[in-house]
Amino acid sequence: MSDIAQHIAVSQRVEIDDLDWDLCRRVGLTEREVESLAFFADVESQTVYYFLEVAKLQVARDPELLTFLTMWNYEEYFHSHAITRLLTECGVPVQSATERSTQVRAGARFKAAFEDFMQTMMAKLMPKRFVSLWMFWGAIQECLTTQAYEEIIRSTKNPVLEEMFKRIAKQERRHFAYYFNQARERLENNPRNQKFCRFIVNKFYAPVGSGVKSESDSVQLIARLFPGDKIIEVMTYIEKRMAQLPGMEGLDACSKWAHKIQPMLPEEMRAPSAQSERAAA
Ligand SMILES: [Fe+2]
Ligand SMILES: [Fe+2]
Repeated sequence: MSDIAQHIAVSQRVEIDDLDWDLCRRVGLTEREVESLAFFADVESQTVYYFLEVAKLQVARDPELLTFLTMWNYEEYFHSHAITRLLTECGVPVQSATERSTQVRAGARFKAAFEDFMQTMMAKLMPKRFVSLWMFWGAIQECLTTQAYEEIIRSTKNPVLEEMFKRIAKQERRHFAYYFNQARERLENNPRNQKFCRFIVNKFYAPVGSGVKSESDSVQLIARLFPGDKIIEVMTYIEKRMAQLPGMEGLDACSKWAHKIQPMLPEEMRAPSAQSERAAA
């Protein structure tokens, strides 16, 4: 079965109606979970804007790509919806997924408009190369998203949150696989695409969601989600996975980012290994 046929066969909104909401309310959420979940819901709710930006480009008018984007957008919407429901059940006052997406977007207007402009220019000037970057970028971000959900799955004491995130993470892994395979196809035997993607990721890598929050907000949220050295471990894992793509050997953009943000964090949140490296230097 082709990649896309496989997606069509399994794509669905994440099921949450059967979850034990009484139990979920009884166990409740920790402060860190409330903060992380609100951040996840914000980021998930922005997918529709990425979808709109890319869908208006001529290069995205490939039927297979549009099919994937439609399902991807649909699934991500329900991730935001599901997280919003869980927060509400636990007594955390939140906006609906749609209100949230509009408000977050309004706050990010300038940066988003600039990125949109750059993206349109790039897509016009070198459409095929742009699609390879879109896939590469998608893979790297979906990989982080999966890691973020798995971190909560490992650490939470709330079995309902754990189950819901397992279901979401399963879809995130599928998104990653699609982007990753598409990126491989477009990078293979194409040194120019490889060089271009490598250049952009080295220069601009930042975790998903950074564009919709202020830089210091999103840096702190991510550092709290992956405390201490965990952020370095996660970033190293992601770049090693991406380094398996053609032309990406030795990629270190993600761990470089994790080191770069250390001075922006309060002392007690910094990664010990980055501190000792600094002291030794
Ligand atoms: Fe998602
Ligand atoms: Fe995703």
